[in-house]
Amino acid sequence: MIEVKDLKFAYNAKDIALRGISFDVKDGEWVSIIGHNGSGKSTMAKLLAGLIEPTAGTISYDGVVLDSKTINQIRPRIGIVFQNPDNQFVGYNVKYDIAFGLENHNVERKEMIELIDKYTKLVDMQDFLEREPGSLSGGQKQRVAIAGILALNCDIIILDEATSMLDPEGVVEITKLICELKEKYHKTLITITHDLDLAMKSDKIVVLREGKIIKEGLPLEIFKERDILLSSNLDMPFSQKAYYLASQNEKLNNKKELMDALWEYHFKM
Ligand SMILES: Nc1ncnc2c1ncn2[C@@H]1O[C@H](COP(=O)(O)OP(=O)(O)OP(=O)(O)O)[C@@H](O)[C@H]1O
Ligand SMILES: [Mg+2]
Repeated sequence: MIEVKDLKFAYNAKDIALRGISFDVKDGEWVSIIGHNGSGKSTMAKLLAGLIEPTAGTISYDGVVLDSKTINQIRPRIGIVFQNPDNQFVGYNVKYDIAFGLENHNVERKEMIELIDKYTKLVDMQDFLEREPGSLSGGQKQRVAIAGILALNCDIIILDEATSMLDPEGVVEITKLICELKEKYHKTLITITHDLDLAMKSDKIVVLREGKIIKEGLPLEIFKERDILLSSNLDMPFSQKAYYLASQNEKLNNKKELMDALWEYHFKM
């Protein structure tokens, strides 16, 4: 379980990014953090991963507070995927990219080969082992990044706008993989996203505004509050919007079959 308590962070006297944030993430839970530009989402991701230290407040993992003494024990559990697929590729091909992370963890060569084989299969990249990053799509690069994290056996995965630079096909690929990470592999997931169709699939949503939580709850509870979304420059997920627009339209809202179909669609998304 991850517990964030009254977390504050300032880059300097002027740039105060987080102003007292508290929330929990249970084991195997998928939490999405949404909010307008500059609301503090990426700062939150960096703090969770221990890349920067809080100005005040704590983050604890299974009761152990993350600090300079515990970081080496906690950090290996956390995998982080960033927005730009090009910046996370370190090897000159898929195989060496995953091997690089394993080498840093002193994994032996034989085990390394087995792990690369297992996890490239899991993300469906087994036929691309020798391929260079330049020849891969953004979605494929993000899948390699996720394979690398899985090979390191991280049980907590943080994705900061991991779909925002992808083409629509890449978004579908990564969304499907994220759902699998939860359903099949029981990873604890924190997705930071502008993509509300992705956030819709998570267990819980935390909405940030100017460094504070303005709303926390189940996706359907959050999306009911159009004002919060609109004032945060966020749109509704497509499935919600379709239902909402139809329900506001007199000609459509008395067509029961259509409304039922849209209602069902908005739950399935
Ligand atoms: N390196 C930095 N130095 C100073 N201020 C910063 C730095 N990085 C971020 N900030 C400020 O901290 C606040 C929160 O930034 P952060 O990047 O966490 O927001 P975000 O919600 O991730 O935004 P976006 O949606 O644009 O990615 C903003 O006001 C931003 O200007
Ligand atoms: Mg950001």
